[in-house]
Amino acid sequence: MTIDFAALPQDFLWGTATSAYQIEGAVAEDGRSPSIWDTFSHTPGKIADDDHGDVACDHYHRWREDIGLMRQLGANAYRLSISWPRVVPGGDGPANPKGLDFYDKLIDGLLEAGITPSVTLYHWDLPQVLQDRGGWPERETAEHFAAYASVVAERLGDRVTHWATLNEPLCSAWIGHLEGKMAPGLTDLTAAVRASYHLLLGHGLAVQAIRAAVPRAEVGIVNNLSTVHPATDRPEDIAAAHRMDGHTNRWWLDPVHGRGFPADMREVYGVELPEQPGDLRTIGAPLDWLGLNYYFPATVSDDPNGPAPHVRSVRRDGVPRTGMDWEVDASGIETLLLRLTDEYGARRLYVTENGSAYPDIVRPDGTVDDPERQAYLTGHLAACASAARKGAPLAGYFAWSLLDNFEWAYGYDKRFGLVHVDYRTQARTIKGTGRHYAEIIRRHREGVAKAA
Ligand code: FCB
Repeated sequence: MTIDFAALPQDFLWGTATSAYQIEGAVAEDGRSPSIWDTFSHTPGKIADDDHGDVACDHYHRWREDIGLMRQLGANAYRLSISWPRVVPGGDGPANPKGLDFYDKLIDGLLEAGITPSVTLYHWDLPQVLQDRGGWPERETAEHFAAYASVVAERLGDRVTHWATLNEPLCSAWIGHLEGKMAPGLTDLTAAVRASYHLLLGHGLAVQAIRAAVPRAEVGIVNNLSTVHPATDRPEDIAAAHRMDGHTNRWWLDPVHGRGFPADMREVYGVELPEQPGDLRTIGAPLDWLGLNYYFPATVSDDPNGPAPHVRSVRRDGVPRTGMDWEVDASGIETLLLRLTDEYGARRLYVTENGSAYPDIVRPDGTVDDPERQAYLTGHLAACASAARKGAPLAGYFAWSLLDNFEWAYGYDKRFGLVHVDYRTQARTIKGTGRHYAEIIRRHREGVAKAA
């Protein structure tokens, strides 16, 4: 598997990604209030082994060391998320200076290390106080999100140009409000559809807020998309795949491209959208870039009696899988990058997350050899470069994740890191894949230097 390095731009961003709740810990420190993930993870039975993010990777105290790890990898970018309950503990209202100070120092540390920060404002950790007032199914949450976005943009916007509003609103809406497997843990279609609407409205309002505060801002949104395959060529399964594509991809892409919410899916859900005049224009404001999180493809069959969108996931046999039981299919990332280019006219694309979990074996000397993760990384990067060769305006890749971390409902059992974390001692050890990523970055730079 070779990577066509010459297809990637010279100023390509080679990054790693994390999110606040998954790594920071320090949940009750310096004025942070609880988020819906604190509540959810402390509800017995919701998370594997009843794990929670109270300490996580203790990044709140160890961020200097973690920037050192990024430097060892040779990364020139880092995607992080801001914890809303750390910065605006009341959900709306006054900012918490200590919370802002933490990110202020982190950003300075990154810049000193020559690492471009890419800041995501919402990676699922809604302040619990806002959930108590109805959460994303209510319009006021979108408005509070924009106010919080202003606070962060005003403080960091003199140094941060690269902004994302939401991470994977699909997970917040569908997994959090429909499937109930993520916070806030609801199983209510009406709440889920209303949440999806207000998440995207919040996105649009936050785009305005960021641009008002940061004239040089480059603003985007991060979606997790999947290629979707019908399980058979029966017309019912082909229609099911089209619905799944609507649920997973089009529902999130069409509105932010000014095309409104897909009519076929509105019918499938049968829930009235809480639309107000002007909303679609707000949601559809042109963006500077799109972020793609890609992990695995979907194969579905028709399931007329199941909940919307009436599809059943089909497990394909004889295909490689990660430790998450997710199918490995690198061609999907290429297909999606080209789709965003051709169908949605993307001006600039980033792979904002991609990676794999496998059970790591730590050798007695503390090292971790992880050839499967390494093959996943190489295969997906080769597919990214191939998409770029075919015209996708790909400007960067962020490996998920810098560190092993709190993998939501799976707790600490699933390890996605380029760096291994021993949760008893908080010792960090760069895995084989981390060293391999460093080598990939070095080779791309070498090519750039030769070309110059
Ligand atoms: C994505 C999330 C990220 C991480 C990876 C494995 O859906 O954005 O936080 O959990 O999956």
